[in-house]
Amino acid sequence: MRRIDQLLSNLGYCSRREARSWVDEELVTVGGKLAGDASDRVDPAMVQVEGKPLDHPDGLLLLFHKPLGRVCSHDGREGPSVYELLPDRWRRRNPPITSVGRLDKDTTGLLLLTDQSDLVHRLTSPKHKVPKTYVATLDRDALPEEGEALRALFASGTFLLTGEKDPCAPAQLAWRDPRTAELVLTEGRYHQVRRMFAEKGLLVTTLHRERFGDLVLGDLAPGTWRPLPLDTFDSKSGG
Ligand code: URA
Repeated sequence: MRRIDQLLSNLGYCSRREARSWVDEELVTVGGKLAGDASDRVDPAMVQVEGKPLDHPDGLLLLFHKPLGRVCSHDGREGPSVYELLPDRWRRRNPPITSVGRLDKDTTGLLLLTDQSDLVHRLTSPKHKVPKTYVATLDRDALPEEGEALRALFASGTFLLTGEKDPCAPAQLAWRDPRTAELVLTEGRYHQVRRMFAEKGLLVTTLHRERFGDLVLGDLAPGTWRPLPLDTFDSKSGG
């Protein structure tokens, strides 16, 4: 049960003061009856504003297709963000919508966005080991023996990136063609895919995340999303 004014302001509808006006103006109903006072504690599922149920009152989890050139930061100085693509009301929500881990500005693909901070912590924790599948295009063809050597090195669990003290966790590498690699990581270090290839003399020219756990991006257009049930990760599904 939550106060009406707090609820509407946390869901990005209006300020708490405006919520009081909306109640006075009879725009808000609870269980089909006009709301009495903005301080009343109500079940969010029973509330309607101008005859419409509240927008995701229990929280949001979005499967989002991150387009090129957008950052996962809320700091406007870092460039245009993925959040700017979301509806204004969602951008005013509190707790705010954040990404589950980050993708680089130049990386595209599957990004989870949510206002559930426990989920962010759970899915980004090194303990959780969600497998994430990336497709990398390289600046040149890998030679056959080079491709096999990289596969073995990445799988070994002994590959140390420059400047790091712990080796990368075993990662599965498969070649779609000599210039296109599919890499499954269970961790998420800074620029990890690009750095793993760069250490071995291959530059990643495009990077795209296709899967996150059991979730697949499919044919979702860049810059669009689809809401997922909040309990998506409660069972084994999704990693
Ligand atoms: N590895 C990278 O190098 N960049 C990403 O965005 C994700 C993984």
